[in-house]
Formats: sequence, structure tokens, C-alpha cells
Amino acid sequence: MRAQPRPTISVIGTGYLGATHAVCMAELGFEVLGVDIDANRIRQLSAGDTPFYEPGLAALLRSNLEAGRLSFTCSIAAAVDHADVHFVCVGTPQRPDSQAADLRHVDAVISGLIAAGLGPRSLVVGKSTVPVGTTARLAARIAAAAPGAELAWNPEFLREGFAVEDTLHPDRLVFGVTSGGRAEAVLRALYSRMIDASTPVIVTDYATAELVKVAANAFLATKISFINAMSEVCDATGGDVVELADALAHDDRIGPLFLRAGIGYGGGCLPKDVRAFQARARELGVGPALSFLGEVDAVNMRARARAVRLAHELLGGDPMNRAVAVLGAAFKPNSDDIRDSPALDVATALRRDGAHVAVYDPAAAANARDRHPNLHIADSVIGAVAGAEIVLVLTEWSEFRTLDPAALRRHVARPVVIDGRGVLDPDAWRGAGWTYRALGRPPRPATVRHHAPRHLAERPLPERPTSERPTSERHLHQGAGLHVVDKAAH
Ligand SMILES: NC(=O)c1ccc[n+]([C@@H]2O[C@H](COP(=O)([O-])OP(=O)(O)OC[C@H]3O[C@@H](n4cnc5c(N)ncnc54)[C@H](O)[C@@H]3O)[C@@H](O)[C@H]2O)c1
Repeated sequence: MRAQPRPTISVIGTGYLGATHAVCMAELGFEVLGVDIDANRIRQLSAGDTPFYEPGLAALLRSNLEAGRLSFTCSIAAAVDHADVHFVCVGTPQRPDSQAADLRHVDAVISGLIAAGLGPRSLVVGKSTVPVGTTARLAARIAAAAPGAELAWNPEFLREGFAVEDTLHPDRLVFGVTSGGRAEAVLRALYSRMIDASTPVIVTDYATAELVKVAANAFLATKISFINAMSEVCDATGGDVVELADALAHDDRIGPLFLRAGIGYGGGCLPKDVRAFQARARELGVGPALSFLGEVDAVNMRARARAVRLAHELLGGDPMNRAVAVLGAAFKPNSDDIRDSPALDVATALRRDGAHVAVYDPAAAANARDRHPNLHIADSVIGAVAGAEIVLVLTEWSEFRTLDPAALRRHVARPVVIDGRGVLDPDAWRGAGWTYRALGRPPRPATVRHHAPRHLAERPLPERPTSERPTSERHLHQGAGLHVVDKAAH
């Protein structure tokens, strides 16, 4: 019996999600055409350069380009000519005039596919995060204009920084399909490698598939804001949020992840998804069911403001013309994504208040320089902290977690640090003569511990090895620091 020919694939939208998906589908052996309206991005990808920092992606991009399985174009008509399955991976940002999601890119892709003559055997697979009800609406558009073509929704759960690993080894696959169609069989064939490796598959209706994604992000955001709310109460009472979180984490029903207090979540997903979910709930007449997400958002934004206030306090109330170092610009480590970055929000607020702010980030410096010309973006930790009166650690890169406080102290004007991510060892920093402060932690020396808090457990991270850092900086790093990582949401 002749084997079924493998479907050919287009991936429309080649940002953090789409570029990774295109590369990984090629890595699985499929012939893939990546499509984007950004000609510069298409040129870069075609030349084997990733337009953003994502560990492991560049090598796979190049090997699949060389193998001839992967190519890129700006032409959606080429996608319709070339492919049987079209993955929609375009952005769904917050609308400028409301909390709702802006669906114009998704709608433009569907219009483009239809105008290019989407064939009756085609399958369109949405991966972008969309408000519940979107898939049914788009399916009706496709049914009217391209009879026989099908639509499925297959939300994506990858985390930036782990995107390749998450795409090739997802923790679950969710297929939103209509009954009686062929979409489920096609998706099972496309993802057969993962399914054979026992990845759970949830086959469900459109609405549930859309809701899984936004509900997951709402839950993660709620957990982060819960511990940040506790941190506010600790600040008012003298309690210690790290010890509180440690004690909570021993309860298996609560667990240790996402319980590290700090300056909160950011990025291109969680903030806008939490807001869009509330906006959609209001449209559906169930606004009160999600009104708590308004508080989740408010706690999150307050965490940034609290960090700014703490910096003011530690500068004696007057940040004007004071030298401030911010370590971190990306919204999370292992990424150069600065969309809605809490670190840059804090840095720009201090700049607005008159401080001279120097920012350093191992991967996001170029993006930060482009978007924030008013900030001084340094090329190294030393470049940022030299002469600083206060150092704020605002993104939990391992390069910062492993800093040697004694070595760093020699470069600053005043040894004062704000640990905005709860990742430094207060005893080590205080022992080296620093004033160590963190949100939700009293300004007293830490109590003696016989074991590290469980949620500060060691977890390896793929990121720039010490050997790749400038020699002048290697002495700044401790041999063994706390490797503290929550699997931060994308
Ligand atoms: N970034 C993540 O980690 C992640 C994870 C899961 C889900 N998502 C969701 O995936 C979607 C994309 O997110 P992202 O972070 O990759 O966004 P992004 O902004 O990095 O990429 C979007 C890309 O789509 C392109 N585009 C816009 N309109 C287009 C069109 N009409 N035709 C072709 N290309 C077009 C843009 O030029 C851009 O390259 C969003 O809905 C997001 O919520 C993102």
C-alpha cells in the first residue's frame, strides 16, 4: 500500500510563536513555508538569522533551511499554492482603545487565504490566542467563501526561552474541531511524533479550545498576583513573603511554582490576555465572573509602582540626578522580548523621576535601546553598576543570580540592592556589606535557614554561559549561586 503523502504546511506570522512553529514543524520532517508581511523579517529568516533571541532556534532554522524543508515568503498566495495546512500565528495585541484583543491581523490572514483561492481540501489551523467565539465566526467566513475548507483551533502554550523544547515536547495538545470533519485526523498526523511519545491530546469544541489558553494564562497570572498581594500585606505587617511562600509550598494542593513575589508578570501574552478575557466576559454578559481578574491586573501593576517607591525610599526620597543601575530589560530571562516589561517600566519611571538610569540585559539590550532612547543601555553589568547608588535586579537572568556581591561592591558608589525577583541570597549580599531589600520582606537580616526554601529549588536554564561573558566580568560571578527559576509564563 502506498503511504499517504505528507501534508505541506504554511505558517502565517513568523514572530515568537510562528517562527518557532515553522522551524519545529520542518524539524519534524514537514515541508514548511513561513509567511509574514514584514519583508525584513522574511529576509532575515531566509538568511538563517532569527529575528529574536530564543535558545536553540537559530541552529534548527539553519539546518532546516539547508535541508531544503523550510523557506519563507511575503506572499500568502504562495502559501495557498504550496500548502495543504495553514497555521495562523499572527499577533493578537490589546486594542489601543480598550482592553479587548485586536483581531485585525487574524481577520486579514483569513481574508488573504480566501482571496488567494483557499482550496476545498485545505485545513486552516489557528494557533494565535483569540477571544472565545472567534473560531466559530471565522469558520462561518471560510464556509461561505471557500466551501470544503476546514478550520481548527490549536492553541499554543510555549514559553519564550523554552520555545523549541515546548514546541517539540509539549505538555499537552488541544484540538478545537467540529464533529465529522477531517481536522482531527490531519492534526494527529502532523503531531504524530509527540502523540506517539504519549503527549496527552484533548479534542474538544472550538469554544473550549479557545478558553483553555486564556484560562491557563488567567490562572498563572492569578497565582503570581496572589503572592504579590501577600507581599503587600507582609510590607504592612512586617511579615516575610519568602518564608510565607515557602510554608505555603509545602502543601501539595498549593505547590511551589509561581509563588515568588516580585515586580510581577509582563510580556506579550499574560497582561493582554488577562485583559482581553475580561473584555470578552463583559461582552458575553458574564463580566462579574471574571471581575477578579481586574484585581489581578491591578496587583500586578502596583508591584512595579512599589518597586519604584522602594527605590525612592532607599535614595532618601530624592532620585533626582542619582545614579541607578537596572539589571534586566527583558520581561523574563532567556528572552529578548521587552513587550510590557516590568523591568523597563520601573527603569523608565525612575528616569522620569530624574534619576540617571543605566540598564544592562544579556539579550534585550538592542530592543531596549530602540524603544527607550532616554535610558542609558550599558554593555555589561559593570558598565551599568559603575558608580551606582542603588542596583535593582529586575529580570532573573542566571548572570544576575550568580553575581558575587563582594566583587560587585567594588564598582558601586553605595552598596544598596533591590531584589525585584526574589532571586538573590539576602545573607550573602548582606554579608558582603550590602543593604538588601525586596518587596514583601522586612529590612532586617534574614533568619538563619537550615535549607533553601523549597520553591527556590535548583533548576538548570539554557542561557549565555560564563565562558561567553567578557573576561573582565567573570570574577563577578559566584561559583555556585542559587538557581532560582519558576517556569515563567511566556
Ligand atoms: N510569544 C509567545 O510566547 C506566545 C505563546 C503562546 C501564544 N502566543 C500567541 O501567539 C500569537 C502571536 O504571538 P507572537 O508573540 O508570536 O507575536 P509577534 O508579534 O512576535 O509575531 C506576530 C507576527 O505576525 C506577523 N503578521 C501580522 N499580520 C500578518 C499578516 N496579515 N500576514 C502575515 N503575517 C502577519 C507580524 O509581522 C509578526 O511577525 C498571539 O496571539 C500570542 O498571544 C504567543
